[in-house]
Amino acid sequence: MINLSVKYLGLNLRNPIIVGSSGLTENTETIRNLEQNGAAAVILKSLFEEEIVLEKEAKLSQMRSGGSLYPESLDFYQYEDAPRESTTEYLELIRNVKKQVSIPVLASINCMTAQQWTWFRKELDMAGADALELNLFILPSDLDRSAGENEKVYFDIIGEVAEKVKIPVSLKISYYFSNLATMIKKLSETSISGLVLFNRFYSPDINLDNFEITSGSVLSSPGDLSLSLRWIAIMAERVDCDLAASTGIHDGAAVIKQLLAGATAVQVVSAIYRHGGERIGEMLHDLETWMGKHGFSSIDDFRGKLSQGKNDNPAAFERVQFMKYFRGFTG
Ligand SMILES: Cc1cc2nc3c(=O)[nH]c(=O)nc-3n(C[C@H](O)[C@H](O)[C@H](O)COP(=O)(O)O)c2cc1C
Repeated sequence: MINLSVKYLGLNLRNPIIVGSSGLTENTETIRNLEQNGAAAVILKSLFEEEIVLEKEAKLSQMRSGGSLYPESLDFYQYEDAPRESTTEYLELIRNVKKQVSIPVLASINCMTAQQWTWFRKELDMAGADALELNLFILPSDLDRSAGENEKVYFDIIGEVAEKVKIPVSLKISYYFSNLATMIKKLSETSISGLVLFNRFYSPDINLDNFEITSGSVLSSPGDLSLSLRWIAIMAERVDCDLAASTGIHDGAAVIKQLLAGATAVQVVSAIYRHGGERIGEMLHDLETWMGKHGFSSIDDFRGKLSQGKNDNPAAFERVQFMKYFRGFTG
């Protein structure tokens, strides 16, 4: 008997495949379908801090223009205590999804600052999400901000949100850090239970005909796997929390590679957009067949077998120059 179950963030998952936060996870019907196709857990579409800030500004401007308030009463308006439309809708989504599916459901919030979450985090605990994924990203493009200042925001948010909710928290990050390994290690030593390597972002492109800035490809390709594969392998034996791999996982082989590198679970999005929910079943089938072929009966039998810490050739994951491949390479 082959057992595909894993423990991620302390949650028992029936297999290592999680559907990542996206438009695929913003309504109950699609999530039920993903569960039927074999998904072990889902991360709901993120609630964006920007939405809350915009809503707050709209509400304040309505109060100002409505004339029903003395201007100074705005100073006393405790927005943090007031239920907001976007957060209320989001909590409703969590409650509904939890009623409809039996797999773990993770909420996701996209934070830019530590300030907005006082009201939300109390409600979040009550809404029934099994865990929370924080989606944090600061593009280090501001010449007046040091790397340390940018990094501090991550720890402030963890202090304000992750340390104060009762459910386990994971953090999905980018690779834009000046000292990535150190940052991953330090983050893993905080109160978070897992790190997701890495998020994929909206990227700009240029239209040569009309000189406009357009959107680059929204979906990843199988070739995008190598970045997270390298860092999962390098960090797997060094971190104090679970690692989930994300970006470029399009088939069963990619799932197996990430597990061999040391991931506890994988997150899949683009492959489902491209091939439908059935892709999860195909990945699970390939994983099971491969495990059978190699005599593995559980994920722990091989997880991390090729991580940098366990591998006979640790330099392989740190090789960055093509040195010897340039010679004789004909394309
Ligand atoms: C259409 C779309 C919407 C997404 N929305 C979110 C989101 O709301 N929150 C988030 O953390 N990630 C979001 N992502 C990023 C995915 O969760 C995932 O990290 C990324 O797509 C890389 O995984 P993949 O290669 O399997 O697509 C979105 C991705 C796509 C394609």
